[in-house]
Amino acid sequence: MCKAILAPLNRVSIRRQCAWRFGANATSTVGTWTGTSTRTVTFAGAAPTPWLRRGISSSAVLAKDPPQAQSESPLGKIGVAAALAPSSGAVKPTLWSEFALRDRVALVSGANRGLGLEMALALVEAGARAVYCVDLPGRPGDGWVKVAEYVRRMVADNNGEVTGRLEYVCADVRDQKAMWKVGEEIGEREGRMDVCVAAAGISTSDMDCLEYPADQFEQVISVNTNGVLYTAQAAGRQMARFGNGGSIILIASMSGSITNKDHACVSYNTSKSAVLQMGRSMACELGRKRIRVNTLSPGYIYTSMTAAYLDTQPHFLDRWSKLNPLGRIGRPDELRGVITWLASDASTFCTGSDILVSGGHHAW
Ligand SMILES: NC(=O)c1ccc[n+]([C@@H]2O[C@H](COP(=O)([O-])OP(=O)(O)OC[C@H]3O[C@@H](n4cnc5c(N)ncnc54)[C@H](O)[C@@H]3O)[C@@H](O)[C@H]2O)c1
Repeated sequence: MCKAILAPLNRVSIRRQCAWRFGANATSTVGTWTGTSTRTVTFAGAAPTPWLRRGISSSAVLAKDPPQAQSESPLGKIGVAAALAPSSGAVKPTLWSEFALRDRVALVSGANRGLGLEMALALVEAGARAVYCVDLPGRPGDGWVKVAEYVRRMVADNNGEVTGRLEYVCADVRDQKAMWKVGEEIGEREGRMDVCVAAAGISTSDMDCLEYPADQFEQVISVNTNGVLYTAQAAGRQMARFGNGGSIILIASMSGSITNKDHACVSYNTSKSAVLQMGRSMACELGRKRIRVNTLSPGYIYTSMTAAYLDTQPHFLDRWSKLNPLGRIGRPDELRGVITWLASDASTFCTGSDILVSGGHHAW
């Protein structure tokens, strides 16, 4: 008996998939299958396939009998397929090219500072042509200005390796029409939209859930949940318009999946939990347009948001640090790799996922 997890649930595609997984003879050896309403299909009473009889590993068969290609890497043949392809020329590694964002255009909300700004810089370093940093203040802060200058120096010092720029846009993510307009203007100006990071967010001080005031609850939800949707829409509408696909990354939090121990944050936790489901919902609607939607859920990281606790109540540093196996809180730069991976062609099969980066806080 063999068990296969199959996405399609009709007989023809099951046969096709079985032939791929178990060798060309597999269709003739398929016995019965059960579970039309489940995703697990059980094959019973089938004669063993020849490779099973000979004790050959299934990977040998997979390499010999790949499924008909449904897609190919935007970079052509990479990895093992490149190694197996006939060629006699010089061989170059492709891995870093898969992470490259050359010529891509991005919109990052909440990018005047903190995690948003860190991620915006990472996208430019990965080759993005322009990263639009959307935030509330009328003028960008000193930190943003210094980072934009750092990018200009990087462009000057690196012989065309980095060519991008940071742009600042003042907008409130709670204003749906304004956000759509921001997206449209970027689309008009750049002729494309490839990446969206919805990082704008707020938290409030701890408060008893039974007394939590309506206005504060609505305030947190309106930025952290509604604002994330409007940001994703602003970029997603342009991705759909230009038809190049895209990657939308919604910044949630580990607080969407767990409750921060010894804290009373019902509004924040609820808002982030909603973002997780928003990501899955959007991913399922937008997959056919080749727009991927994932959520990124950081653990405790030192930024202005967490400084509101740590700088006024320093004992939290020790308490939060002890809550994860690494025994420390995170740095914003520790999200550079994951955001670049999610934004780039290195993650083309990842959508509808939540990526937890929490120092293992959720793993106890
Ligand atoms: N720092 C952490 O430990 C941590 C952990 C998990 C998740 N997060 C999430 O990461 C994201 C970034 O947080 P951060 O730590 O960088 O905080 P931060 O306070 O440093 O940055 C948040 C940014 O969002 C902007 N913003 C707030 N309301 C806005 C609005 N209505 N319109 C436009 N911009 C608005 C702020 O001006 C600020 O620049 C947030 O969504 C936060 O919930 C942070």
